[in-house]
Amino acid sequence: MVKIPLNKPSLIGNEIKYVRDAVRRGQLSGDGFYTKRCNALIEEITQSPKALVTHSCTAALEMAALLCDLGPGDEVILPSFTFVSTANAIVLRRATPVFVDIDPATLNIDPARVAAAVTPQTKAIFAVHYAGFPADMDALAEIARAHDLVLVEDAAQALGSTYKGRPAGSLGDLAAFSFHETKNVISGEGGALTINNPAFVERAEIIREKGTNRSRFIRGDVDKYTWVDVGSSYLPGELISSFLCAQLEAEKAISARRLSLFDRYQEALTPLADRELVQLPVTPSDTIGNGHMFYLLMPDQNMRHDFINFMRERDVITPFHYIPLHSAPAGEKFSRTHGDMAVTKRVSDTLVRLPMFFDLGSEVEDVIDHVNDFFSQSAPQRSGA
Ligand SMILES: Cc1ncc(COP(=O)(O)O)c(C=O)c1O
Repeated sequence: MVKIPLNKPSLIGNEIKYVRDAVRRGQLSGDGFYTKRCNALIEEITQSPKALVTHSCTAALEMAALLCDLGPGDEVILPSFTFVSTANAIVLRRATPVFVDIDPATLNIDPARVAAAVTPQTKAIFAVHYAGFPADMDALAEIARAHDLVLVEDAAQALGSTYKGRPAGSLGDLAAFSFHETKNVISGEGGALTINNPAFVERAEIIREKGTNRSRFIRGDVDKYTWVDVGSSYLPGELISSFLCAQLEAEKAISARRLSLFDRYQEALTPLADRELVQLPVTPSDTIGNGHMFYLLMPDQNMRHDFINFMRERDVITPFHYIPLHSAPAGEKFSRTHGDMAVTKRVSDTLVRLPMFFDLGSEVEDVIDHVNDFFSQSAPQRSGA
């Protein structure tokens, strides 16, 4: 039995009540009462004019790639330090992911490197908001405008975060969210696409509805619906949306709880950072995070390995994160890089994540104590070795 896991899905209150209500209402397929309510709640949280729930962030990213009209020969610039779905959406369209390095402070895509990687083949930028902290979207939007590129946010981890006062999900032409059970707001599996560029709205509805204009039919705009474009089945059923609705209604409380845990870690571990034993997350001054993740960057890979084992022996799970996509077997086959990837490699080798979930209580103090024990026991021996 693991004493303190990295993540634990938590029920906030009305989930089961709403699932029962969805059954009572008699529609279990999508686009019923709860789908509409979730779309409206996501529009409220993100301040985006249009949200569509999907069955995952992976699905929302695939929709974004279809909306970008990607095809063979097209290129999309993105970070290599991300989840595989960011790149797979591009590869599924037979376009080429072009990976660039990340900023060493924020771990988000570096706009200067994006600008340097643009070619006549570039069609889009997929920016990831790592750990829930928005990427530098104004700088990326300027590059996108200058080269007529679509700017897509992979906001899988960023629901509730803001950048210069504007919420994640409202910052690009399109944005993809995840409600996987490891995220802040959850429905087991789940996601959403927000659409800020009105040119994409009608086609997004069609793509989500198997390439048909069924959404227009439901609104009464056309008297029958038919196959009008490429598409797939990206619409979740009402059971998922009813559960998600209860979580979305509690988004502020969930983010607040996680941010208080984040602040506690930050306060307690800053002395280690002051002694340059670890690097802690950096919150840019114009950004408010959502407490999605708290990570440490260790001095080197060996020390990270020892740390993970030390914590596991004390029943605390502190895993590393992404293996750089450009160096993975499929990355070598389907993608290319622009510029060196030194920061990506170092971060991938040295990052560990600390337990973070809504129901994490006083155990946060145990985690902090164990982290401090590790450095008081291991670090001096190592630096003296
Ligand atoms: C950055 C990023 N993009 C995409 C995804 C995929 O999300 P989902 O599991 O909802 O498809 C994840 C999931 O962890 C992620 O972290």
